[in-house]
This record gives sequence, structure tokens and C-alpha cells, in this order.
Amino acid sequence: MAELLDGNRVRDEIKAELLGRVQAIRQRFRAPGIAVVLVGDNPASAIYVRNKVKTCQDLGIYSETHTPPASIATAELLALVEQLNQREDIDGILVQMPLPPQVDAKRVLDAIRPDKDVDGFHPVSVGNLSIGNPGPRACTPAGVIELLKRYQVPLVGAEVVVVGRSDIVGKPMAMMLIHESATVTVCHSKTRDLAEVCRRADLLIAAMGKPALLNDAHIKPGAVVVDVGMNRVTHPAEVERIWPGDQAKRAQLQQKGSVLVGDVSPLSMAARASFYTPVPGGVGPLTIAMLMVNTVTLAEARAHRAGVLLH
Ligand code: GUN
Repeated sequence: MAELLDGNRVRDEIKAELLGRVQAIRQRFRAPGIAVVLVGDNPASAIYVRNKVKTCQDLGIYSETHTPPASIATAELLALVEQLNQREDIDGILVQMPLPPQVDAKRVLDAIRPDKDVDGFHPVSVGNLSIGNPGPRACTPAGVIELLKRYQVPLVGAEVVVVGRSDIVGKPMAMMLIHESATVTVCHSKTRDLAEVCRRADLLIAAMGKPALLNDAHIKPGAVVVDVGMNRVTHPAEVERIWPGDQAKRAQLQQKGSVLVGDVSPLSMAARASFYTPVPGGVGPLTIAMLMVNTVTLAEARAHRAGVLLH
């Protein structure tokens, strides 16, 4: 029987561990602070940002949200980032992705000061990850590593297959696993015989954003499966393909208009994996937890540079 890797439980552990650090910073310096920039009205982004703000409140981290309209020009967004770069009370700047098409997202991300890069997306942070220097790490892959370590999933020498090569998840995930001494294969849309490669994996990490694309054919029996995908399925035929004959899922589709599914068939994970992350409740909660870790770590560094002794 497959066991769950419980992201909510690990999220709560990480939050509890952060409380003391936040308290020390608040007592001797000021509240750690994060500025979130949410452009336009993408509903998924709005939900993510709401969860981030709520988690800050839980921990005593100051947060502010800027909500420029979807029509904003690159120059205006750069000006906002520059203002936040200059603020002494802001330790981290997060520009929620995706940005509208007229905005040069790369220029905006590159404009964030590396010492305020809570997302770990800045080229300086990416370089630091690559050569193993300290610095903020991309939150989702960092959360996956945290989850695997806390469940004592063996990584040294493990055959790991990462499906997806995004800058946000796939690439930094592969780099972090290399640092853990795993043997890492990265697959993508042009990979020949994806199933054959995936079946080699002791640990399979799906991060390509395709609803339930991976199934029995991709999972070696007993493998650990981490599903980073968060896809909203809206078509009844899709729901039937993923959960054949499941009345509850059909009802959920009718009530809510969509059903959430990861990149791996949930039935296949339950049938073939030894451990796997459910969707929701697997990787998702950890992304926010690691964002909080990055914020607190950047605030500690700022306090240190201001000459404040925290410990
Ligand atoms: N959009 C989806 N995931 C993320 C994330 O981790 N950070 C930001 N800034 N945008 C995202």
C-alpha cells in the first residue's frame, strides 16, 4: 500500500521552527518584511498570493501586496521594483508569475536586488545554487528536498528522473538533487520514450504541467513519486479519463466547474508507488513554507549587515 508524503504536516513543522527565528528578529531588529507584487487579475495567482499573505500573518512577518493593473508597462513595474529595492523595511520582493504578455518578465525579475530575491529566480541566485554557494533557493524545489529529507527518502546514489525543465522547478530541482549526490536525468517534451526513462526512477519528480500525463507505464513499482503539478481539469471526458467511473469527481466538476489534478495519474501513484505526494496537500504547502524560510533568512542577513546580533 502506498503511503502519503504529507506536505501539510511538513509545512506545519517548518512554520513552527521559524517562529523562534521570527521572534528574535522582531525583538532585536524589526519584523521581517516581504512585498508581493500581483499584476492583473489571474485567479490562480490571486489564490497563491492570498495564501502567502495569510502565512506571513501566522508567523508575524510583515507583508504588503501591490496590485497594479494588467495593463502595466514594463517601465512602470521596474519603477515599483526599484522603490521596493530601496526600502529598508522590506527584506524580500516577490513578483508573482505569470506576468501579462506586454511585460518583459525577465527584465523585471533581474531588477530585483539579489539580496531581496525571496523566489531565488535572479541570475545571481541561480548561479549561487549552481556552484553550491549559500543564497535564496527557488521555493518549490527547495520544498521538495525538505519533504524528501524529512521522510528520509534516500537520495545519495538514487536514480532520479525529473520530468520538466522549467526555470522555476525542473532546472533548479535537478541542480539541488545533484548536490544531494543523486543520479539525475531530466526529461522534457522532446524526450524519446518518456515512459522507458521514467521507469528507471527510484524517485520520479513530475513538473511539466500536464494533467495526469504520467501513469502506470511511467512508474516503477515501489518508486517514490513527487507530483509538482497543479492542473485544473474542466472537461468531463478528462475527468473520466483520470478517474474512470468516479461519481464524486464528476459531482465535484459539476459543482465547482473544475477538478484539481497533478501531472501524475492519482490512481497510478496509489497503485504503484511506495510513497507519493497527493494533489492537493503534497508539494503545494511547502512552496509557501520555503518562501517564509527565504524571507526570514534574508531578514537575518539584513539584520546582520545592520550590525544587529541575533543569537
Ligand atoms: N508562480 C507560480 N509559482 C510561483 C512562485 O514560486 N513564485 C512566483 N513569483 N510566481 C509563481
